[in-house]
Amino acid sequence: MEGMVAKWYTTNTGKTLDEFAKLARRIAGQIQPRSMVLEVAPGPGYFCIELGKLGAYSITGLDISHTFVEIARKKAAEEGVHVEFRQGNASSMPFDDNTFDFLLCRAAFKNFGQPVRALQEMCRVLKPGGRGLIIDLRKDASIESINHTVDAMGLSAVNRMFTKLTFRFFLIKSAYTKQQFQHMLAQANFARVDIQEADIGFEISMTK
Ligand SMILES: C[S@@+](CC[C@H](N)C(=O)[O-])C[C@H]1O[C@@H](n2cnc3c(N)ncnc32)[C@H](O)[C@@H]1O
Repeated sequence: MEGMVAKWYTTNTGKTLDEFAKLARRIAGQIQPRSMVLEVAPGPGYFCIELGKLGAYSITGLDISHTFVEIARKKAAEEGVHVEFRQGNASSMPFDDNTFDFLLCRAAFKNFGQPVRALQEMCRVLKPGGRGLIIDLRKDASIESINHTVDAMGLSAVNRMFTKLTFRFFLIKSAYTKQQFQHMLAQANFARVDIQEADIGFEISMTK
């Protein structure tokens, strides 16, 4: 079952590679050459791979799913990009303190079983002055805005319907409100946090 879901997600999001390339260009414009970059929960690894094409960064992806780690390793090899994909839990990361200059966590935070621990771990593994960016769905995203976003994903009619139902009946249920995020962030030790609402989601920027 996990393998089937992972493959479906990989194919679906593979249709929106432009989004990942755009995000990678944006991040590349904000970090130094040779930065140590971590993606927490990279799934198929599209962001890491697109970022890897843009410069000599040292990029690591940490995902709890063995299946996704395998998929991501294979995709990076196909693209000829070096990324270290590792299996592990966001709530207990296998990295030393003060390791990364930048970290991203996209479309994954709401799935974490121990979200506060994950924030504390993000803070721990960032270098002082390092920055983390969480991009995720927000609980108060309207059905209309979700439908609009899914329509723009370029999926077949059946897949579009299935994806809309997944958002409505699963993803929104586990998503957080801004207040819930503020409450969780207060339990981690970041020097600065900023929460921006952007169409169906949030962008949460955290500086250590
Ligand atoms: C919807 S995918 C998002 C993948 C990718 N970030 C993207 O933007 O396409 C969510 C990912 O979170 C991972 N995940 C869930 N809980 C996790 C945890 N506690 N630690 C690390 N990864 C986790 C899943 O295995 C899955 O790969």
